[in-house]
Amino acid sequence: MESLRSKPSKLRSETEIFNEVESKAIDLFAKASGLDVKTVLNIVKKRSEQQDKQGLDYDLAFPCFQLATKKKLDAKTLAVQIAKKINNEIKNSKELSRMFSKLEAVNGYVNFYYNWNWLASIVLKSLQKEFALKPSKDLLYIVEFSSPNTNKPLHIGHVRNDCIGESIARIIKHQGFKVLKFNLINDRGIHICKAMLAYKLFGNNQTPEKANKKPDKFVGDFYVLFNKKAKQNPMLEQEAAKLLQLWESNHEETIKLWKKLREWSLQGLFQTYKDYNVSFDVIEFESEIYSKGKQLVLEGLEKGLFFKDDQGAIVVEFENLPRKVLLRSDGTSIYITQDLGLAVYRKQKYNFDYMIYVVASEQNLHFKQLFAILKKLGFEWADRLKHLSYGMVLLEHGKMKSREGQVIEADEFLQQMQHLTFKELKKRCQSINDEKAMLEKAKAIALAAIKFFMLKHAPRKDFVFKPEQSITFEGETGPYVQYTIARINSLLKKAESQGVTMPKQFLFKNFNDKELSIVKNLYSFNFVIEQAFKELDPSKVCKHLIKICQDFNSFYQTIPILKDVNNREKRLAIAKAVRTALSYGLYLLNIPVLEEM
Ligand code: ARG
Repeated sequence: MESLRSKPSKLRSETEIFNEVESKAIDLFAKASGLDVKTVLNIVKKRSEQQDKQGLDYDLAFPCFQLATKKKLDAKTLAVQIAKKINNEIKNSKELSRMFSKLEAVNGYVNFYYNWNWLASIVLKSLQKEFALKPSKDLLYIVEFSSPNTNKPLHIGHVRNDCIGESIARIIKHQGFKVLKFNLINDRGIHICKAMLAYKLFGNNQTPEKANKKPDKFVGDFYVLFNKKAKQNPMLEQEAAKLLQLWESNHEETIKLWKKLREWSLQGLFQTYKDYNVSFDVIEFESEIYSKGKQLVLEGLEKGLFFKDDQGAIVVEFENLPRKVLLRSDGTSIYITQDLGLAVYRKQKYNFDYMIYVVASEQNLHFKQLFAILKKLGFEWADRLKHLSYGMVLLEHGKMKSREGQVIEADEFLQQMQHLTFKELKKRCQSINDEKAMLEKAKAIALAAIKFFMLKHAPRKDFVFKPEQSITFEGETGPYVQYTIARINSLLKKAESQGVTMPKQFLFKNFNDKELSIVKNLYSFNFVIEQAFKELDPSKVCKHLIKICQDFNSFYQTIPILKDVNNREKRLAIAKAVRTALSYGLYLLNIPVLEEM
């Protein structure tokens, strides 16, 4: 795998050139229209698809409607006037004529067409090595994701959460911003005490090792056991509540028990993170922060922002949201109290510019209220908090049921997917000499299948996870992208063995349609990533990768590469550039790249 580590400080000069073409176009339009560059930047439409909806294949389009209204002109006429001015300027400049092949006014737009026969080589050259990152800008993003509880193993919902969190963190980094990945672990509360109580009553001093269970699973099973037993004996609920009181009063024995189970749980959770290649920069524990926020609520009450209801609870009211209790009448805090305190604490400690919470859509209202309360309290930065809400992962009926019958756990999910992939791989090759290596490969492919399927749906959508579909090598899947890279690897190896080398100068000519289509998609990849960033939506990256793969594979199947002596260097350069973009794309999705499949 080529190094994906980026050196943000150094931009490749080729990238500068194709940025230069874009800025030249923007300048030209600004000058000819009399608008300032900032305004133009806001209205310009860039190619993100091969063609726009009207079937136009422009590279940049500038709408003239607003300006026309201001000037009391017809937009079509204005576009023609502006285009004429710019065309004159292009005609008189050698440099500009090399950059642009065509400029025309269409239905109130001024459309620019790049000279791809010149630009294509530059794009290709820039992608022969690692993908370029933008220079680092001093904005800090906090991305909070995963945030599990220590009474249960991770489940398939966490898998989606982790996929989104990791990918969004990478997409933000690609923009040149700093990112800290946070995990807020819920290790306190009544549900934790329930697991503790079951262990205390029925655990017989067992350990995960003795029971031969993964430690988080071991703890989770006691939580399940509690719920079973409590159905027969409702008194247990009260006992659990008592245990919570003991915990809150720092009762020594209770704390000891809590620490033991918590440690086991964390061991197991972090093993799962490792298996999925998920990591964090900052781990927070609710046990350490849960009392934060009370002070804020009391201050808000004093300022008259909140009020006490008849029962004595502190409550807030909004114009367009349901009212919310902030502190119970007995003075104990609730979920939102803690989140209020935590947001302020994080702001003070890390001074982030933006904070993104990756949390399931059931909590949409919670976050709306949270942000609104912070705003009421006078924290202007509340506008820079964002809830990245995501929908449910459904499973096909009868497939991938967990042993407990309810949700499927993350570990089991990966195992089943690995098993499925392994079976497929076995079908494809007659003899297996290294079963261990094949299992490794099956895991990498299974991870690709899972993560790509999770990410190709826009976060807010629910979807059905289809195991067989997710692992096919031909379809909109992670393995398909891995496979395309492996295919290019073997092509490049073959070229090397035949002694084909790359020219120093990249001055390729006569690009055919299939070639150009690939190059244009490579060119717009940067823009797609920017879009994914703006909308916090990795599915944009997935879709683009599939488009590149499809174009490349159709090219590969129909056009000779090594046999066509006049074109082979160019075509190899295309293959290599595709590999760079695809590998980097998989990196953005936190999917492993395989040398061969
Ligand atoms: N642990 C919580 C849950 O399982 C999610 C925490 C989300 N983060 C937050 N800052 N509220 O629902």
